[in-house]
Amino acid sequence: MTVLKIEGMSKTFGGLQALTDVNIDVQEHEFFGIIGPNGAGKTTLFSVLAGQIPPTSGRIVFNGTDITGWPAHKIAANGLVRTFQLMRPFESMTVLENVAIASHSKIRSTSKARQHAKEVIERVHLDKYLTAMSGTLSTAGLKRLELARALAMEPEVLLLDEVLAGLVPAERAPIIDLLREIHASGITIMFVEHIMAAVMALSDRLLVMHEGQKLALGEPKQVIEDPTVIEAYLGEEYA
Ligand SMILES: Nc1ncnc2c1ncn2[C@@H]1O[C@H](COP(=O)(O)OP(=O)(O)O)[C@@H](O)[C@H]1O
Ligand SMILES: [Mg+2]
Repeated sequence: MTVLKIEGMSKTFGGLQALTDVNIDVQEHEFFGIIGPNGAGKTTLFSVLAGQIPPTSGRIVFNGTDITGWPAHKIAANGLVRTFQLMRPFESMTVLENVAIASHSKIRSTSKARQHAKEVIERVHLDKYLTAMSGTLSTAGLKRLELARALAMEPEVLLLDEVLAGLVPAERAPIIDLLREIHASGITIMFVEHIMAAVMALSDRLLVMHEGQKLALGEPKQVIEDPTVIEAYLGEEYA
């Protein structure tokens, strides 16, 4: 079953065409990978999906409802939640407080929101750091916090933008395991990632974007062997 349908999505910034007629169907409980050279439009796609910027044209249908033009908070409250490429927790607040704010968007009672936040913090294995100031966390810890804040909003579909960026190789495997756990808990994941080992290990289907368009989509192993995909990446390397 299709959970998220993107139809004829285009976005221009002034004269720049960041997305051109993108059509994607994401299936329920899919792990949907997205790669593409810098500037391909990956982050713009997520910003449009999450309601942070309006599309120039096109439609977004989430669980059968047209959510195009909805404000970001309403989209998130309905279960389509994104994380950011740049992490921005409130550094002078504790891990618990940061997550509780996100829980509060779903739960009115302060004590219940805190309890919910504690459970989410356990899910991302940050429970040792419940009362630590967020600014003191390592990069890997901040990644876990960012995932906790997203999970606290009880997403049905999670949009992850380069969640492994900034991690050294040894730090990646535990976060990849955590992504698997999150997915196994029943959440559909759409993720943009540069680390190919993670992309290949996690993706059910892989989309390659190039210059704002869908260049290839399908089974990951076939997609990365597609000559047009190889050319797009070579083009970037030698540009
Ligand atoms: N807010 C914006 N204003 C103007 N141009 C933008 C804005 N956001 C992105 N762009 C441009 O849109 C194109 C796609 O960017 P982006 O979606 O960030 O690519 P990616 O995430 O694939 O690297 C780039 O050329 C970028 O400079
Ligand atoms: Mg990006």
